[in-house]
Amino acid sequence: MLILFGTVTGNAESLAQRTAEVIARRGFDVRVKDMAHYTVDALSQESCVVIITSTYGNGEPPDDAAPFWAGSRAKRRLEFTWDKIFRPGAGQFHL
Ligand SMILES: Cc1cc2nc3c(=O)[nH]c(=O)nc-3n(C[C@H](O)[C@H](O)[C@H](O)COP(=O)(O)O)c2cc1C
Repeated sequence: MLILFGTVTGNAESLAQRTAEVIARRGFDVRVKDMAHYTVDALSQESCVVIITSTYGNGEPPDDAAPFWAGSRAKRRLEFTWDKIFRPGAGQFHL
C-alpha cells in the first residue's frame, strides 16, 4: 500500500506517518511518500493508494502537490474524485 500526502506545515505528513504505523502493525507492507515528489506515471505500479492532504485557498491541495493531482486527473490514473480524498483541514473552512 502507498500513502501519499500533501502538506505545507507538516500536519498531513504526520497523519500519514501515524496511519502507516497503524497499518504496518497489522502486518501490511506500507510506504509513505510526498505527492510533491511522486510522478503520476508511477501510480501504475501501485495496487492500493491512500491520499492524505491538507487543503488551502478554496479547498485545494498544497501548491507543490497540485501538479500530481492535476496530472492524475488528466491521465485518469485515479478512480476517485477530490471529495473522496482524506483532507484534514480547519473547521472554519466550508467546502
Ligand atoms: C491560508 C490558509 C488557507 C486554508 N484553507 C483551507 C481550506 O480551504 N480548507 C480547509 O479545510 N482548511 C484550510 N486551511 C487549514 C489547513 O488545511 C490546516 O491548517 C491543515 O491542518 C494544514 O495541514 P498541513 O500542515 O499538512 O499543511 C487553510 C489554512 C491556511 C493557513
